[in-house]
Amino acid sequence: MSNQTPPSRQLIGGRFAEDTDAFVEEFTASVMFDQRMAHQDIEGSRAHAAMLAKQDIISAQDKADILRGLDEISAEVTAGTFPWSVGLEDVHMNIEARLTEKVGMAGKRLHTGRSRNDQVATDIRLYLRTALDEISAEIDRLLEGLLMQADANADAVMPGFTHLQTAQPVTVGHHLMAWFEMLLRDADRIRDCRRRMNVSPLGAAALAGTSYPIDRHFTAEQMGFTGPAENSLDAVSDRDFAIEFCSDAAILMMHLSRISEELVLWSSAQFSFIDLPDRFCTGSSIMPQKKNPDVPELIRGKSGRVYGHLFSLLTLMKSQPLAYNKDNQEDKEPLFDTVDTLMGSLRAFADMVPAISFRHDDMREAALRGFSTATDLADYLVVKGLAFRDAHEVVGQAVRLGLETKRDLAEMELSELQEFSAAIEQDVFGVLSLEGSVASRDHFGGTAPNQVREAVKRGRARKAWLAVGTE
Ligand code: ARG
Repeated sequence: MSNQTPPSRQLIGGRFAEDTDAFVEEFTASVMFDQRMAHQDIEGSRAHAAMLAKQDIISAQDKADILRGLDEISAEVTAGTFPWSVGLEDVHMNIEARLTEKVGMAGKRLHTGRSRNDQVATDIRLYLRTALDEISAEIDRLLEGLLMQADANADAVMPGFTHLQTAQPVTVGHHLMAWFEMLLRDADRIRDCRRRMNVSPLGAAALAGTSYPIDRHFTAEQMGFTGPAENSLDAVSDRDFAIEFCSDAAILMMHLSRISEELVLWSSAQFSFIDLPDRFCTGSSIMPQKKNPDVPELIRGKSGRVYGHLFSLLTLMKSQPLAYNKDNQEDKEPLFDTVDTLMGSLRAFADMVPAISFRHDDMREAALRGFSTATDLADYLVVKGLAFRDAHEVVGQAVRLGLETKRDLAEMELSELQEFSAAIEQDVFGVLSLEGSVASRDHFGGTAPNQVREAVKRGRARKAWLAVGTE
C-alpha cells in the first residue's frame, strides 16, 4: 500500500487491493460519537489483557506494557489531548493504534481472542450501566424534593380534577405524592433494566467465540458484571438492553411531560396555584409582564425526541439476522441522546421542585369556586337515608342555585339548603367545608392530611434502596 494508506487500512487492510473511498471512510466512521465510550473501552481492554496474561496467552511483560499504555491513553482522553482520527474509524481502533504507538508489539497482541463486535457490545453495557446509576441518583434527588414538598403541603387544599374540571378537594401533598408514585415506578424500571443488562459479552469475539483458552468468567468479574452472556451469537447482537432503557426513558419522559403540563397550567395567571422560582423562567422580548415557565415547557417538548429514539432502536433491530451487523453502529446516537435528555430533564426537575412555592389561598379559593364538596353533600344525604340517585338530584339543584347566585354550597343558609331536602341539618356545614371533606377521606391511599403524612413516611422507606445504589 502507498504512503497515503488511511490508518484503518494499515490496521485491518491486508486483504484489500485499493484504499477506502474518502467519503465512505467518513460515512462509515463512528469515532465522532463513540469516543464517548473511550474509558469503557479502556476498562474492557484492561480486563482482557489481564485475562490473556492469566491464561498464558500473552506474557506478563506484554500485560504490563499494555496496562501502562492504557493508563497513559486514559489520561490523554481525560485531558482532551488524545489524537482522535476519523481515518481509524471508531473508538476501538483509535485506542488500539495509539496503544501500539506507545508500547509497540504488546499493543498489537491485545486484540488476540477478541473482536470489535464483542468489544463494542461490552463498551455500551459498561457505559449504560454507569449512566443508569447516575440517572437513578437524579431520580432519587427528585423524589426527595417531592417528599419534602408533600410533607410541607400535607394540609393545604386544592381542587382535584377530572376532565380538568374541578371534581373534589384534595390536599396538595396528596397530589405531589401521586407524582412520587409515578417516578418511583420509573426508578424501579431502571433498576430492573440494569439487572438484566449487567452481563458480559466479552469473549464472544466476532460471533462464534475463540479457539484461545480464554476465561470469560474472569473478565466478567473484573468489569463488575454478574457473569458472562450465555450465547456468543446473542452476546454480540443483543441490543435489547438499549431498547429497554429507551422504553423506560420514554415512560419517564411521559411522566415528566405530565408534571410539566401541570406546572405550566398552575403557574398561569388563570390558575395561579404556584410560583416557579425566577431562575427557572425567562421573560418575553416584547411583553414586559411575561414570566414564562420555559423549563417545564422544554421538558414537555423533549419527551418527543426520546419517544423517537425508542422507535429508532426498535426499527434498527427489526429483522436483523444473527449475528453482528454494521446496522448496530446506529444504536449509539439515539442511546446517548436519550441519556443526555433524561439526565438534563431530571436534573432541572430535581433542582426546581424544592423551590416551587404553592399559593395556598388561591388553591383553596379555586376549590371553593368549583363546588368541589358536592359529592360530600350527596354522601351526607345518603347517610341521612336518601338513595344515592335522589341525593345526586338534590345536590344538583343546590349547585344550580349556587351558580345562579355565585356562591359555594358552604356559603348558603341552612334554610336555603333545607328547601332542597328536609334531611339537611346544621351538621351539614362540617361536611361542606373543604377541610372536612379531605379529612373524611381517611383511609390507606386517601387524601386526608394524616394519610399524606403516612404516605410520605412510607415513601421515604420505599425509596431507600435508591440511595444505597442499585445491586
Ligand atoms: N463501530 C462499530 C459499532 O459501533 C464497532 C464494531 C464494528 N465491527 C465490525 N466488524 N465492523 O458497532
